[in-house]
Amino acid sequence: MIEPHGGKLVNLVVDEDEIKEILQNSENFKKIPIPDYKLRDVENIATGLFSPLTGFMKEKDYIRVIDKMRLSNDLIWTIPITLPIDESSFKNIKNGETILLTDFNGHIHASVKVEDKFTRNAEKESLGVFGTDDLKHPGVARLKKESTFLIGGEVRLLKGFDYGQLEKYRFTPAETRKLFDKMGWKSVVAFQTRNPIHRSHEYLQKVALEICDGLFLNPLVGETKSDDLPVDLRMKTYEVMIDKYFPKSRVILGIFTANMHYAGPREAVFHAICRKNYGCTHFIVGRDHAGVGNYYGTYDAQKIFDLFDPSEIGIIPMKFENAFYCTECESMATSKTCPHSDEFHVYLSGTKVREMLSKGETLPKEFTRPEISNILTDYYDKSK
Ligand code: ADX
Repeated sequence: MIEPHGGKLVNLVVDEDEIKEILQNSENFKKIPIPDYKLRDVENIATGLFSPLTGFMKEKDYIRVIDKMRLSNDLIWTIPITLPIDESSFKNIKNGETILLTDFNGHIHASVKVEDKFTRNAEKESLGVFGTDDLKHPGVARLKKESTFLIGGEVRLLKGFDYGQLEKYRFTPAETRKLFDKMGWKSVVAFQTRNPIHRSHEYLQKVALEICDGLFLNPLVGETKSDDLPVDLRMKTYEVMIDKYFPKSRVILGIFTANMHYAGPREAVFHAICRKNYGCTHFIVGRDHAGVGNYYGTYDAQKIFDLFDPSEIGIIPMKFENAFYCTECESMATSKTCPHSDEFHVYLSGTKVREMLSKGETLPKEFTRPEISNILTDYYDKSK
């Protein structure tokens, strides 16, 4: 099986006895409430999804990731994973101290051994990670809302995030590795998405399935920008697709518990590394992967992989051109396989899709399967 990033799967989930001990002594530790999207980061570190990270980044990793896309031990890493806290807590916390992270209801989720305290340069981080410091960029906007006071140090997870009805689709990297092994899959292609499934997605997945033994359909369920569609709705579209249009023995649906950064190329590498940790051998990167607005070139998220030695990345990026339905070919295609001009190509932008759905219009079946279009129309009808 493919090695995790850095060679070893991190596991910092504490056992029942340790949880009891920490909770009994909880009065002795400072408690810091953090938002849900940061609780997700803690969990992703502790379960090994972000291997080799064992905690929130210390300054030397943070700076090297922004400047060089590498951790201080030289491993490729493209997105800073940080713990911002308010200024007065920051001033009261000492290096070497253990703090407890809680949700906004006061429930304790994790502990952090404080190994480093530093301030971030939000401007430099925005430009480095997102290539812009425009506040209209959702990643930049979130970053600029956060405190500039950061804590670095190893985490321990006591209580995971509650994914409610989606729990059955939640797997740790150790679990997916066992699952893939049980399925007898030697090669597994992962698909990242934050959208309801449409025919271009299906095309990419099926072309990849012609080559790989299994597909890990791995929609992101962490924080997304406000106009992305809700997770439950998106999951329904994947369930219906698998049920009707995929051989069930060749697909596993599992949630990707990370937040969306909209960092385009850098996020594509981050996405690929996380999927390697799950045990996937291949990763689909289509057009404008993890992009937003016009901040990135259509294929920047593919080109970034060329900056690295493939053996360092480990997982193989499967790069796809823009896919569409061609009315002349009467099939899905890309410019690599179709000779016809744009006028024969059915493709709708996200904005156009939202516009049609809010008017109660049905999406063309060349763009989305009718079952999926119905799920989306129902949702828009109900939210009127
Ligand atoms: S993303 O933010 O998760 O990348 P989305 O869910 O739209 O957004 O895309 C999931 C994956 O499918 C990404 O790899 C993206 O590049 C790819 N993709 C989406 N639509 C197309 C398309 N029409 N042609 C080629 N690739 C596509």
